Amino acid sequence: MPSSPAHQAHHAADAAPHVRDAGVADLPAVAAIYTHYVLRTTITFNTEVRTPRQWQERFATHVTAGRHQLLVAEVAGAVAGFVETQPFRPKPAYDRSVELSVYVAPDATGAGVGGALYGALLTRLEADEAFHRAYAVIALPNEGSEAFHRRHGFTLRGTLTEAGHKFGRYLDVAYYERAL
Ligand SMILES: CC(C)(COP(=O)(O)OP(=O)(O)OC[C@H]1O[C@@H](n2cnc3c(N)ncnc32)[C@H](O)[C@@H]1OP(=O)(O)O)[C@@H](O)C(=O)NCCC(=O)NCCS
Repeated sequence: MPSSPAHQAHHAADAAPHVRDAGVADLPAVAAIYTHYVLRTTITFNTEVRTPRQWQERFATHVTAGRHQLLVAEVAGAVAGFVETQPFRPKPAYDRSVELSVYVAPDATGAGVGGALYGALLTRLEADEAFHRAYAVIALPNEGSEAFHRRHGFTLRGTLTEAGHKFGRYLDVAYYERAL
């Protein structure tokens, strides 16, 4: 597999990630990263791959016409990770809270890509009067993500037990919070 985006990113891990707003043209690369975590891990509770059309509709609703963000990190010209924001919960009193989801290509982790994405996103969210709290909902176990979120100023506020069920087993969910 000579030239998948993640593969290229891996070989350029010494290059600093470049974080920017995603465009529609980035959705296939974003989808490729996310699909790995849907199909092979319990990190996301989605069990079915989002179709290209679903990605486009989500982008149009949340980002183009909405208050939400999708940022990508490029390493050597290839998308190596992304972060997206979405409503924390649908009811209107939650409107000042936002949920973050971050995914780095599996062969590009541990090289500062996630950190670059969170640095850029959190700076933006702090400057945005519309948002007051950020949440990360972490399926356990995920020591890497818990350490990553603590490092970026998140605090564990509570853990739900066996709230999820995927691949034949129950999963706990940790709620991490950060003031914006
Ligand atoms: C979690 C994730 C987003 C972090 O991004 P990353 O690019 O790998 O992390 P970075 O290289 O920017 O690391 C930043 C910090 O995170 C922490 N960290 C990241 N991965 C870690 C791991 N496996 N174990 C312990 N700490 C870890 C470290 O504290 C690190 O701090 P340092 O710079 O002082 O070493 C990424 O590993 C990933 O996508 N993992 C799989 C999907 C996932 O779990 N997403 C989050 C869902 S809630």
